[in-house]
Amino acid sequence: MGALFHTRGDVAVITLDNPPVNGLACDVRRGISEALDRVETDASLIAVVIIGGGKLFSAGADIREFGRPEAVAEPNLFSLLMQIEMMSKPVIAAVNGVCMGGGLELALGSHYRVAAPGTDVGLPEVKLGILPGCGGTQRLPRAIGVEPALNMVVTGESIKSEVLAAIPGQKLFDQLIEGDLLAGACDFARACAESRSTDLPLLRHVKASHPNAEAYFQFARNTAKGASRNFPAPAKCVDAVEASVKRTFDEGLAFERHIFRELLGTPESKALRHVFFAERAAAKVADIDAATARRTLDKVSVIGAGTMGGGITMNFLDAGRPVTILETTQEALDRGVATIRKNYEALVRKGKLAADKYERKMSLLRTTLDYTDIADADLVIEAVYEDLKVKEQVFRTLDGVMKPGAILATNTSTLDVNRIAEVTRRPQDVVGMHFFSPANVMKLLEVVRGKATSREVLATVLDLAKTIRKTAVVSGVCDGFIGNRMLDQYFRQASFLVEEGCSPEQVDRAIEKFGFAMGPFRVADLAGNDIGWAIRKRRYIEKPHVRYSRVGDVLCEMGRFGQKSGAGFYDYVEGRRDAVPSPIVKDLLVQFRKDAGIEPRKIGEDEIVHRLVWALVNEGARVLEEGISGKASDVDVVYLTGYGFPRHRGGPMCYADTVGLYNVVRSMRQYARNPNDDAAFWEPAPLLARLAAEGKSFS
Ligand code: 3HC
Repeated sequence: MGALFHTRGDVAVITLDNPPVNGLACDVRRGISEALDRVETDASLIAVVIIGGGKLFSAGADIREFGRPEAVAEPNLFSLLMQIEMMSKPVIAAVNGVCMGGGLELALGSHYRVAAPGTDVGLPEVKLGILPGCGGTQRLPRAIGVEPALNMVVTGESIKSEVLAAIPGQKLFDQLIEGDLLAGACDFARACAESRSTDLPLLRHVKASHPNAEAYFQFARNTAKGASRNFPAPAKCVDAVEASVKRTFDEGLAFERHIFRELLGTPESKALRHVFFAERAAAKVADIDAATARRTLDKVSVIGAGTMGGGITMNFLDAGRPVTILETTQEALDRGVATIRKNYEALVRKGKLAADKYERKMSLLRTTLDYTDIADADLVIEAVYEDLKVKEQVFRTLDGVMKPGAILATNTSTLDVNRIAEVTRRPQDVVGMHFFSPANVMKLLEVVRGKATSREVLATVLDLAKTIRKTAVVSGVCDGFIGNRMLDQYFRQASFLVEEGCSPEQVDRAIEKFGFAMGPFRVADLAGNDIGWAIRKRRYIEKPHVRYSRVGDVLCEMGRFGQKSGAGFYDYVEGRRDAVPSPIVKDLLVQFRKDAGIEPRKIGEDEIVHRLVWALVNEGARVLEEGISGKASDVDVVYLTGYGFPRHRGGPMCYADTVGLYNVVRSMRQYARNPNDDAAFWEPAPLLARLAAEGKSFS
């Protein structure tokens, strides 16, 4: 690992060599620096090309080094860029594949840049809660203009090299090179060295300007603040880009560096770095590796053309894979296909999908009413009504008709996958694939591993998840799996808060301020309160000793099912989705408390947030100790990708680690003493209690 050196005639070539993404780790930086010194002292060499080994240039600083001495060890990236600027021979960055973060900053600090078309170019630091720390916010505006640069820095989104190269007057890419990038870059380097008459070009000498800077940056700052709630990095990105216009280059650089250091130490940045690695770790399962056999997955079928079945189908169509949907009646099929069409047509109308692509997707869709038509599918995903008897019947039928080796998946969200598997003669082929609604949008896929599910089947489904752009997390079998099991405790606690004196809107407001996309009561109204009601009926009849609030049930008994019935925890005006505080619910709660003998009290926002989040954490700890989930970071990924937990808090388990498990347990014990709360609810899970007592964390 490091940087490799070789020559092509009179041109030196430095190849970044740190697979898989050529992160600019300490050894890589040292290798580049030593190679540059060598070029400077060798009179036979006239120019330098820096290129990435493997399929890409560089994904930037090595994030694993952050917070460790290696990150700042000399030569750090900052010093390396100064060394390049002082070179007497032209340095050309030749970028391909991925050129991001510190990788792009290395290129921006070079004298010239050439790129292969199709290169993903970006400054994604904001997604890690920081900003580019080595001149990205100062040089990119000078290279492509202030507005396009600010958009890239604030959103962290990457843009293709050919799109950037087409910006009028841009100074980012001197040439796009089709074909052999190294050969083209060496020719370009030679031409630069030979035609050179003046100083080598540096972006620091270009002026960054905006015709209406004051108003533009104010607008950009307000927009960034509005979109990012309490998360500080985006607004700081605006400040730094503004400095490129209002300050000298060196002042801007120092300002950027100062903010970079400040942001790096924030809990938000630590949490986002945790999320980065947690999402990648989720796909790694202890007993599955590259050597585990995979099954072929060419033909896919979905049983059920309802909301879930349709959404699941769209994932495959979007990935360019043919799908056959099976239903029991032609009307249900027609309805399902019409909904899929409607969803795509909305995208076409918004300009997010080209009309020809829409037709291509639809041409991959087949429908049938006959199980024998899907008998040769490699994977069948059942998405029928959430009822064990109905699902068992579907699996009996599948067992009878499907070819040997077909993977039989159920999209159940709460039912026992082992029982479903047991009705077949091939439980090793049965697995849960729990998609989240809307299934074509939500990233999360809980892959439920039954007690008999084979490693081969699990590995195949995990690979498949990547191809349909889902974040897969493996869960064991239990009621609700990881996500809904924890959600049950969260909602129980939210309802206790309402019994004790909060209004639904107070609870929602507090947790939304914390960063959740939506509070529990707005979610319940959106999803349909009758769904939770049905689950509670089943769950709490089986567990009569468990206390839960009947507030949600009472609303359902009044027909207040949520948005779909025009009323739930909130009132709704026809045709609009705004949740309006309901006087009926307010009166109902007053009566409810009176009947239950509860003296209502004012509850602060911190208590609301902590009671809701600790409810998740405690159940998350149980999920871990029972082996339902293999890693605390997986629990975080479930909540981040499926339940709107704020990314900059890192997920419930990461957030609890940040606060300190000792403090979490202490506040749980305090809530247990509250006369209106449920002491049993706050009994710390043994794993949580042990970690807290030992001063340890989940991570
Ligand atoms: N540092 C360390 N490891 C990195 C990394 C980085 N910058 N970028 C990716 N990796 C690792 C991943 O953790 C993963 O490791 P694993 O195989 O052990 O799980 C491996 O590289 C492959 O990553 P992906 O699974 O994400 O591979 P993809 O092909 O899907 O995506 C990518 C590749 C587009 C480069 C994507 O990894 C990515 O977006 N990386 C983040 C880039 C980034 O944030 N750069 C900014 C760094 S901060 C910086 O540069 C500061 C500077 O301004 C001073």
